Amino acid sequence: MSSKPVALILLAAGQGSRMNSDLPKVLHQIGAAPLAIHALRAASVLEPEKTVVVTGHGADQVEKVLAKHDDQLTFARQTEQNGTAHAVDQARDVLGDFEGDVVVLYGDTPFVSGDTLERMAEARATADVVVLGFDAADPGRYGRLITKGDTLEKIVEAKDANPEELAVTLCNSGVIMCDARTIFDLISRVGNDNASGEYYLTDIVGLARAGGMSAAAVTCDEAETLGINTRAELAAAETAFQARMRTDALENGVSLAQPETTYFAYDTVLGRDAMIGPNVVFGPDVTVESGAEIKAFCHLEGCHVSQGAVVGPFARLRPGAELEEGAKVGNFVEIKNATLAEGAKVNHLSYVGDAHVGASANIGAGTITCNYDGVFKHRTTIGAGAFIGSNTLLIAPVDVGADAMTGSGTVVTEDVPDGDLALSRVRQTNKTGLARKLMQMLRAKKMKKDA
Ligand code: UD1
Ligand code: CA
Repeated sequence: MSSKPVALILLAAGQGSRMNSDLPKVLHQIGAAPLAIHALRAASVLEPEKTVVVTGHGADQVEKVLAKHDDQLTFARQTEQNGTAHAVDQARDVLGDFEGDVVVLYGDTPFVSGDTLERMAEARATADVVVLGFDAADPGRYGRLITKGDTLEKIVEAKDANPEELAVTLCNSGVIMCDARTIFDLISRVGNDNASGEYYLTDIVGLARAGGMSAAAVTCDEAETLGINTRAELAAAETAFQARMRTDALENGVSLAQPETTYFAYDTVLGRDAMIGPNVVFGPDVTVESGAEIKAFCHLEGCHVSQGAVVGPFARLRPGAELEEGAKVGNFVEIKNATLAEGAKVNHLSYVGDAHVGASANIGAGTITCNYDGVFKHRTTIGAGAFIGSNTLLIAPVDVGADAMTGSGTVVTEDVPDGDLALSRVRQTNKTGLARKLMQMLRAKKMKKDA
């Protein structure tokens, strides 16, 4: 890793018109996180002291969403998109005096790895400008890295390249690393006399070389430099991302019954020997601890599942669901913002929201915490060892004590003290023979009508 302090500049001002979308390109998601966040997360290995995101198209929206993910970001606006050098120049106010290195990343290039960025930082020990290149299967409109031995001489954009340069397959990923003062110095000398009439960041390499500085290319796999321009590329990137998450999980000792049917978010954490059944979807912010089991067809987000807990099949854990050790959530159960303490069970067809369920409590089938009055949310607490009868409605706010019980079908509107039994249903009466009599009457009526 680089010993020097590092600052990031993330370019995210472009329109992304080929996405054919109202949503700015860098906010389209892979693994439930905006594209731009993926690039920033990879760069976290460099422990950046500052991160400047250059915004333009959809700036308000981009800034709002990205700030939610990371409140340390600084934003710089590029009101006209005059090229990548012009974009980086927008960070001059913030980073012009930064003592250390600057790394330029693209907001639409989510897969550059931390390892690769570390290799670039290492290469900076011997080169003033380090560029990330890759050997392109189809070099097309990528900028070409023109090298002589180990030295990078310049970068030529495809539009401006001669046939000999076009034949080069070593291409520019767009990731560049350089001392901060140096990069802003070089940028002030970049012109726009080229095929696009834009200020190319890539020109800084030739300018550095002409000024006697050194430049080098570090290379990585083409898959890392994949940029997203279209919906099809976004879908392909999602597929690649999921494949990588599945491989990582398997390597980390997670059991995936049918890996290709497990869907991950960017931050999913699965412990060793966690067992994941087929067709399980993880939204953001999920931790499943070692040895917990998620059975088939579950959807989880914003939740924590402890050791020995079992979820599903067909269960939904929503944000704030906390399952302590050995808790059980069965089929057609939804848990939201609720803790199930050790060994608590909600096995069938229930909604438990804004609640605390005590250790070893048992929630019968069809139980509903009625937590919402149309305006406010209210809490339910259920004590340890409580037994909630089937089809109980708990009208929150309400507390059910430890070892208390509710009869099936009870509508709990008042607190139930520890150890009490709550019953709120009409007493049953049996009318002798009335069922048969009623049926005969109805059949007779039908015969008359059909005749
Ligand atoms: C750029 C590189 C090219 C490289 C390719 C890799 C230059 C001149 N060319 O070309 O060598 O092979 O990326 O994908 O740098 N952006 C702004 N403001 C601008 C212009 C661009 O924020 O004024 C952002 C875009 O949103 C995008 C990134 O910078 O994220 C790259 O811009 P783009 O126009 O896609 O550059 P390319 O022509 O692909
Ligand atoms: Ca591009």
